[in-house]
Order: sequence, then structure tokens, then C-alpha cells
Amino acid sequence: MNQPVSGFSKKTKQEKIDWLAENYLQNNPDAVQILKKYWNEDAQLQQLHDDFIENTISNYYLPFGIAPNFLINGTLFALPMVTEESSVVAAASNAAKFWLERGGFKAEVISTEKNGQIHFNFYGSVKDMEAFFEAVKPKLRASIQSIEKNMKARGGGLLELSLLDKSHILEGYYYIHATFETLDAMGANFINSCLEQMAHTFEEEAKHFEPFQQKETYPEVVMSILSNYVPECLARAEVSCKVEELTTKHYEGKHFAEKFVRAIDIAKTESRRAVTHNKGIMNGVDAIVLATGNDFRAVEAGVHAYAARNSYYGSLTHAKIEDDVFTFWIELPLAVGTVGGLTSLHPLTKLAFEILQKPNAKELMKIMAVAGLAQNFAAVRSLVTTGIQKGHMKMHLMNILNQLQATKEEKKEALNYFKENAVSHSAVVSFLENFRM
Ligand code: MEV
Repeated sequence: MNQPVSGFSKKTKQEKIDWLAENYLQNNPDAVQILKKYWNEDAQLQQLHDDFIENTISNYYLPFGIAPNFLINGTLFALPMVTEESSVVAAASNAAKFWLERGGFKAEVISTEKNGQIHFNFYGSVKDMEAFFEAVKPKLRASIQSIEKNMKARGGGLLELSLLDKSHILEGYYYIHATFETLDAMGANFINSCLEQMAHTFEEEAKHFEPFQQKETYPEVVMSILSNYVPECLARAEVSCKVEELTTKHYEGKHFAEKFVRAIDIAKTESRRAVTHNKGIMNGVDAIVLATGNDFRAVEAGVHAYAARNSYYGSLTHAKIEDDVFTFWIELPLAVGTVGGLTSLHPLTKLAFEILQKPNAKELMKIMAVAGLAQNFAAVRSLVTTGIQKGHMKMHLMNILNQLQATKEEKKEALNYFKENAVSHSAVVSFLENFRM
């Protein structure tokens, strides 16, 4: 049985690997070699990656791909996408090309406000708390002056402070709701620093508030933290064209548009479908969130909460046909940054920003919304026409061939053969068996 380890983080990288090999990888003689194979030869670059987290033992590669031909508000973009899913970049590229020929994407930022809360207990009189909050508000603001200085100079900072009495849902529970403008920063560190400072001031000032002293009842801060639910930090993207412009070799435009709108309506009303529908949207959004070094867990959490804002979980995209014009759009919350965090630390992230023509946070929000819409268009288009497996398995073919250790020549022959034949794991196995006979 393995034993707990103490002082693990103090061990050198080699010691950590040795410990791991001894305790958890005894049956794999290649384990250490595999870990080391992914080290970077450039010691400085490796050190940079080692420093991102604690206990680093290797690097984990994900493909960095490009989806070109995205026409957004009249400008052409090539989108850097980091993802492991075979068909995501191909689908985005197809959708981009499709809409390039139909006027491209329109995108806008609706709002950019972020928020956080100081959650506290208070069992005294609500009136006293309201009076205290009004009195202490200017002091809370003043207490974050030094934290806020740079952000304020650039036009951002704390916006509003309000008191919320939640004692009807949880006895003695209140919070201070704080809203922020963080400009090009995602702003998590800034918001959390402001909240923690204000929470401290709040508790300290409460000790000197007479009505609290008289009744010997004081507020107690439980925690202070930003919220990843950001429905006031919204981007919107849209495509539209005449339904006849949707006609392709295989489908008549009007019929396709009607089926497409129906598929969106299903995702708007049925959560079981909506979750997968939105997952497909996030295939596109996350790929750019990752490529640009943003926090994909924060974006995911915020987006799915937004999808459930009306007390049921529904689609993030919408579609309609009006006067023979097909319109398809998305609205989603995106708290992302172009400065701070990993954005300027990771060399590939820096490159991703260069590829995107150095966008600010608002421009990045628009690009991500477009990527989500494009991905959803590609997925739903396949779903209501050929089904997704045809395209998906075609893209997955190379993974199966690699899994079966196909040679260069076998891959070439297989790619040729599967142009005309349906891809499945067993079909590829049979193909290779026949070829190898
Ligand atoms: C697969 O990663 C994503 C899809 O399932 C999305 C969808 O069903 O809309 C194809």
C-alpha cells in the first residue's frame, strides 16, 4: 500500500519523478522516459512552464491549430485554437468559409461589468445594518485607493456597492455586492484584493458603530470573492442571409433553414439537448480561451450559469426566419482578459494575440462569441443534414490509425480508401488487416 508523502513540494523535480515511479508507476519501465520526452530542451522555457504551477514533472501538449477566413465586422481573422477534439478546427474553418461568402459575422459587446461579493453573517436589526452600510460605504471605497490606483488611472475600478439582505433564504445571511470595470484585465486578482480589503475595513468599522455596540451584535465576514457569474459582461455575435442563399449542392435553403431553426428551438426548450448544444458552442469558445491563456473554467462556469438564468437550462444561440431572411445569433457572458495572468507569460499565448492582431478585451470577447456561433452553426448544420458522425469520424481517422500504429504508407492508403467508405474503428481494423495480409 502507498504511504502519504510529506514535504513533496520541497523535493527536486527528479526526486518527485523518482518518488512517483517508485510508488505509482512500478509496472511501467518507460514512465520516466515518457515524462522526460516532453521536457523542453530550452532550459529557460522549461523553467517558465515549471513555474506556472506547483510540482511540475513534465509538460502536457495540446494541438494549437488555426481556423482561417473569419470575417468579423468587415475584418478578416485567422483564429488560433487549442483543442484535442479532432473535428473542432475543421468545423470552425468550414463555418467561417460558409459565412465569408454570405457577408461574414457581426459582433458587439453589450456590457463589460464584473462583480464580487463580501458574504457576511449578521443577526441584529436590519435597520441598523442599513444605516451602518450607508455610513461605511465611503470608507470602504477609500480603503482600496492604493489597490485601485492604476486601474482607476486607466478608467476602470470599483463601480457600485450595494447591500443585499438574504436572511429570508438563510438566517443571518447578507452580502455586499460590488461591481467593477476591469478593462483589458480579466480582473480576478484585482477584484479579490479589493474585496478582501473592503471586508477588513467593514469588520473593523463595525466595531465602532454605536448601535452595534449597544446591542453587542456585530457583522462577521464569512468570505470575500469575485463571482464567475457575469451576466453583465456580455458579447453578441450574429450571421444572417436570405434563406435561398443557404441552398447548397445537397440542400434546398428554405428547408434547411426551417430544420435549423427547429433544432435551435429544441435546444431552447429541452435541457437534455441544450447541454450538448452548448457544449458544442464551448468547443469553439474554449479553444480560443485556451490559446489566449484565459481561464476556461471561469468562462465555462459563467456561460452555463447564464444558460440557466431563466430557471431552466437552455440554448445560448437563437435562430429565426423572418421575411425569408435567416438570422442566427448568440449572446454569452465572457469575462476574459488580454493583459495579466498567463496572457503575456506563455510564448504561444503571446503569439496567439499577435495572430489575432493584438485585440483588447472587448475585441477578444467578440472573437470568442463568433467562434462559439460558428462552431454551433457547423454542428447543427451537420446534425440536421448528414449527421455528425460522417465528418467527425473522418477527422478521427488519423487518431484511429495512430492508435493501430499504421505506417506512413498504410495511412496514405487508408485516407484514400475512407474518402468513399464510412469510418468506424472496426472498419479501420479490417482495412489494415487486409492491407497487411
Ligand atoms: C461534439 O463535441 C459537439 C456536438 O455534440 C455539439 C452538438 O451536438 O450540437 C456535435
